[in-house]
Amino acid sequence: MIVLGVESSCDETGLALYDTDRGLLAHALHSQVAMHEQYGGVVPELASRDHIRRALPLLEQVLADARLDRHAIDAIAYTQGPGLAGALLVGASVACGLGLALDKPVLGVHHLEGHLLSPLLASEPPEFPFVALLVSGGHTQLMRVDGVGRYTLLGETVDDAAGEAFDKSAKLLGLGYPGGPAISRLAEFGDPGVYTLPRPMLHSKNLNFSFSGLKTAVLTLVKTKITNICEQDKANVARAFVDAIVEVLVAKCMAALKETGLKRLVIAGGVGANRQLREALNAAAAKKRFRVFYPELEFCTDNGAMIAFAGAMRLQLQPEAAQRDYAFNV
Ligand code: KG4
Ligand code: ZN
Repeated sequence: MIVLGVESSCDETGLALYDTDRGLLAHALHSQVAMHEQYGGVVPELASRDHIRRALPLLEQVLADARLDRHAIDAIAYTQGPGLAGALLVGASVACGLGLALDKPVLGVHHLEGHLLSPLLASEPPEFPFVALLVSGGHTQLMRVDGVGRYTLLGETVDDAAGEAFDKSAKLLGLGYPGGPAISRLAEFGDPGVYTLPRPMLHSKNLNFSFSGLKTAVLTLVKTKITNICEQDKANVARAFVDAIVEVLVAKCMAALKETGLKRLVIAGGVGANRQLREALNAAAAKKRFRVFYPELEFCTDNGAMIAFAGAMRLQLQPEAAQRDYAFNV
């Protein structure tokens, strides 16, 4: 079965073809980062209009890369949500329009399920069950994953998501959008221990997170504690921020592994691309004897491959999930 995946929940248009026999056949992505950069964040109306411009050319690209005719597509999976309403509507309309034209079933996929299953696209995928840390711009969750569709929420953020904390703290330091990669790069030049930021909920007796206080601590440091912040100071603050957030994320992952008794940890979502987080998790894995799995770097942030894959997995499990009424609901 060949499934076309369509992702358009935020600022990336991603299309991909996944074959349940042969694996990922092709994927293509257009990032809108350059377009939103000047506004310091995603402008929803611009995002929707750009998805409209990009979706069909990207479809032609993946079909050409896979050397397939569009009639070879057996089903179409699109991101149903969560995400920006207008942006989601574009992906859903493209998917349903194609479904109607090609007489193929369509399926709405939860964006987070796409992220959650994306490590299974790697060359050495983890086996079930595993603990998953889902760290994106909008969500931070720890989950026990026993199989496709068998997810138990272990803990989540009570306020900001980890990616949001990265982006907002980067903004406070005058760094560009998206802030995660920018603050991470700057932190490499910072000296450890010059500033110390709080580790929210590090010792809470549950698997929840809280990051809004960390962002406020960065604000307080930058606006009131440091006069005339110089470049080195900015790097030191970036380092303090990254050290704090990474320590909390790693500690909660350890606690989740302990609580579940599992030995496999999977990291998914945009923040999973973070170098310092990966280094800290790899070091912990070597010390505590568990295995940690990541999606390929290109599949950490939003992409069509994870939606095609999650759609294909769902359809294998629940063929009745595919609809032919083409009435979408985002
Ligand atoms: O998963 P994703 O692409 O979109 C959502 O579903 O939200 O995640 C985007 C988030 C942004 O907050 C971005 O700053 C963060 O992932 N991010 C990073 C890195 N790359 C992306 N955060 C820290 N370090 C990175 N290298
Ligand atoms: Zn995402």
